[in-house]
Amino acid sequence: MTRLKGTCGSLRMLKARKFFCRGILRNLLYPFSYSFNFKSSIMKTIFFSVSIALFLQLTFSQEFEITADTMDGKLMYESWCGRCHGDDGRGVVEGIQLDAPVPDFTDCSFNSREPRKDWMAVIMDGGPARGLAMTMPSWRESISDEQAGVIISHIKTFCSETGWPPGELNFRRAQVTLKAFPENEALMIPSYTSTQTASAVTRFVYESRVGSSGQWEIALPLISRFGSSPAGGVGDIEVAGKYVIFHDLSAMSILSAGLEVGFPTGRRSDGFGSGSVKLAPFVAAAKGFGEAFVQSSVKFERRLKTGASELFYTIALTLPLTDEKKGLFPTIEVNGISANGNSGNTILITPQLYIGLVQRGHIALSLGTQIPVAGTKPFDYRLVGFLLWEYADGGLWW
Ligand code: HEC
Repeated sequence: MTRLKGTCGSLRMLKARKFFCRGILRNLLYPFSYSFNFKSSIMKTIFFSVSIALFLQLTFSQEFEITADTMDGKLMYESWCGRCHGDDGRGVVEGIQLDAPVPDFTDCSFNSREPRKDWMAVIMDGGPARGLAMTMPSWRESISDEQAGVIISHIKTFCSETGWPPGELNFRRAQVTLKAFPENEALMIPSYTSTQTASAVTRFVYESRVGSSGQWEIALPLISRFGSSPAGGVGDIEVAGKYVIFHDLSAMSILSAGLEVGFPTGRRSDGFGSGSVKLAPFVAAAKGFGEAFVQSSVKFERRLKTGASELFYTIALTLPLTDEKKGLFPTIEVNGISANGNSGNTILITPQLYIGLVQRGHIALSLGTQIPVAGTKPFDYRLVGFLLWEYADGGLWW
């Protein structure tokens, strides 16, 4: 239980104190102090003062006992945070010019994608705790974790729209498993496949959120083939859309569905393209278990021209070695492919390490290797990696 001290004097910052301790009391006593009958007015004044003081003492000994349930997030926010963030949360306060731009808490895209834990760190330890400006002060000396939690709940109410999945469900990306959370992200995804004619593919992917629950993306693959007849070129460009159909913070779960469409932009004669339009509906899900999390996706691909189809199913388990966004997130994936042609079924494992490179977590690297362990063997091994940049959360160079 957190207790704010119960006297008028000690609660200098709270507006309620100003109102009750100065406003009401002074106004109530005012008529008596100017009464003509001096003696009776003194008596009345004493009488009323004592009763009012008693009344206030009784009510305030209740009022000032602020617990996690009764703490008023709005009042605390407006008293301590509003002077920079604005009482309406928009970050614009007349007459105040700060050296760092103040975020707009009413922007649901920003408000929803920030996990409470990250905000707790910023509030208690100040901006630099998450790579932000020092202008955002540390509050550890002045407020408790419980109070900060209640203030965060108030800040969360500045986004009045529903449907925005919370940032807690934005689990770190795995190499193969599709992500359920919608992202504003740019990725460079290089891979090197060791077969008789080794090849390297680098996919450049741009993802952008649409509304509360949607996301679209475009992927451009650049292919280099090594060996006796080396060649290079553009592969099949893919466009995809995704929509969050379910999310539940208390169950730490999220489920999305989407459709990927591939276009035959790659030269087929060089082996850089499939020569056919591809349709690939998919579902992607994720669930957190304490710090650990599991992600899984199933995708069905069909080439319209040939009728060839493949089913991709995959599951990834991540056990973070850090509480922060910067740090190591070891992950193991099991990937399955079932093809209707002669390539048959394949099971692969993909051990990998996701490395959050910066405190804010918006730039990360992942490296791994994909190894066929059962069924047909489409390649000896594949080196996989990606570099990602959540461009809405910060620049590329800090
Ligand atoms: C002296 C001005 C000031 C005060 C007072 C202040 N803040 Fe801030 N706050 C800032 C600035 C400036 C930023 C933006 C920092 C940046 O983006 O580099 C910020 C950022 C934040 C963020 C966003 C972190 C993120 O992930 O981007 C949160 C949450 C926040 N403040 C909460 C609070 C709370 C809660 C209080 C009151 C207990 C408070 N602030 C009081 C100036 C202030």
